[in-house]
Amino acid sequence: MSMKPDLSTETTGKTSRRLTWSTRFGFILAATGSAIGLGNIWKFPYITGVYGGGAFVLVYIGCVIVVGLPLMISELIIGRRGRQNPVGAFQVLSREGSPWQIPGWIGVAAGFVILSFYSVIAGHALAYIFKSLPGFVGTADQIREQYSSLKNSAGSSIAWHTMFMVLTIAIVAGGVRRGIERWARILMPTLFFLLLFLMIYGLAFTEGGAAAINFLFNPGFSALSAEGVLSALGHAFFTLSLGMGAMITYGSYMKKEVNIVRDAVTISFLDTFIALMAGLAIFSMVFAYGLEPGAGPGLLFETLPVLFAETGPWVAVSFFVLLTFAALTSAISLLEVVVSYFIDKRGWSRMNAAIIMGAVIYFLGLLSAIESIKVPFRGSPTGFFDIFDFVSTNYMLPLGGLLTGLFAAYVVKDRIRSEEFGSSGGLYRAFVVVLKFITPLAVLIVLLHGLELLPFMDYGN
Ligand code: PFF
Repeated sequence: MSMKPDLSTETTGKTSRRLTWSTRFGFILAATGSAIGLGNIWKFPYITGVYGGGAFVLVYIGCVIVVGLPLMISELIIGRRGRQNPVGAFQVLSREGSPWQIPGWIGVAAGFVILSFYSVIAGHALAYIFKSLPGFVGTADQIREQYSSLKNSAGSSIAWHTMFMVLTIAIVAGGVRRGIERWARILMPTLFFLLLFLMIYGLAFTEGGAAAINFLFNPGFSALSAEGVLSALGHAFFTLSLGMGAMITYGSYMKKEVNIVRDAVTISFLDTFIALMAGLAIFSMVFAYGLEPGAGPGLLFETLPVLFAETGPWVAVSFFVLLTFAALTSAISLLEVVVSYFIDKRGWSRMNAAIIMGAVIYFLGLLSAIESIKVPFRGSPTGFFDIFDFVSTNYMLPLGGLLTGLFAAYVVKDRIRSEEFGSSGGLYRAFVVVLKFITPLAVLIVLLHGLELLPFMDYGN
């Protein structure tokens, strides 16, 4: 392995330099697009509902600042210095044959696993745009039923999963500037305005606004369980797209002069802000209609449509367009991790890498799309959707994140100081202390919890 940039690295055509984003704003939109996704609009509201609201939100924000932000800075730095896909970036920045390439491999593997199930839920979001058009009619039970029938019909789930993967592949095949960046420029602002509209609608035009604000921002610590704290931490990785090299890959297209610390703060802030906006929009509606906030994963597809029957189709259609756009810009980044590896390391063309690897992920996704396939997992028959979600959030991302943080703190640290933090010595020291001690401890706890090995938790064994 050479220390020089890999010549098979995708080039601009005229020079052998790596492609870059066309503008800083374009990069921020693409990276924010990766971070903001189903995690913010589907998962965050439902887990906040399950774990009781305000106190969970506070812990989650704490995890974003203390664990997420330093890791995001690390990933972007590793990417920009390595100028390659995650595996290549770790190789270039460490010694030959060093085990430091392991987190890069975990990242590429996680790209396959996460996108495969992510695309199934994203497919459901896409399906619901069309289901919303004529408006939801019938009794609450009948409306809820529609989701189980979509989920349980392998044919429909597969059809929507297929469509979503085709969209994702087409955009990634278009390239960094003409595909990813261009679509992020269109999708992200649309998403923001749709969400703003829904939030204003929820807060100002339904009766549930005050209850939603109270639920999200008034921390009742008695409702918070240890399980809730661990979920907040695991979710911080997922929602910020950390621990699997997505930010390494996007960082590899960054220009040298851009300030990484400032951009990481912007991306993390926007991600959290959008999650809170989604929470406000969704819970205002939930409370206005006396629905159950702790309804779980079905909150968006089973609970909300019941009230969309009252609001009329335009609110419903806006909502599912928003959800699909958010999912699409995240799915793009998941596929880009895998594709950049095959371009840089195997010398494939972008088109071939996107189509072939997209197809492999698509076929893996069939396991999650077919609800009836169940295998024994943690003591009960479980579908692949839940297994892949659990394994990636609880094992792959935390482990990848742990190793990435340690790599930044111990291996690339000296170069980071002068270039990224400038004269701000205090900030740099805080960054290193967090990466050396706090992040590893936090991640270890999540991992042990995933393995049901935490001494103070009751796993019912
Ligand atoms: N951050 C995305 C979300 O919140 O939906 C999910 C995700 C995208 C996770 C990309 C990991 C990743 F690399």
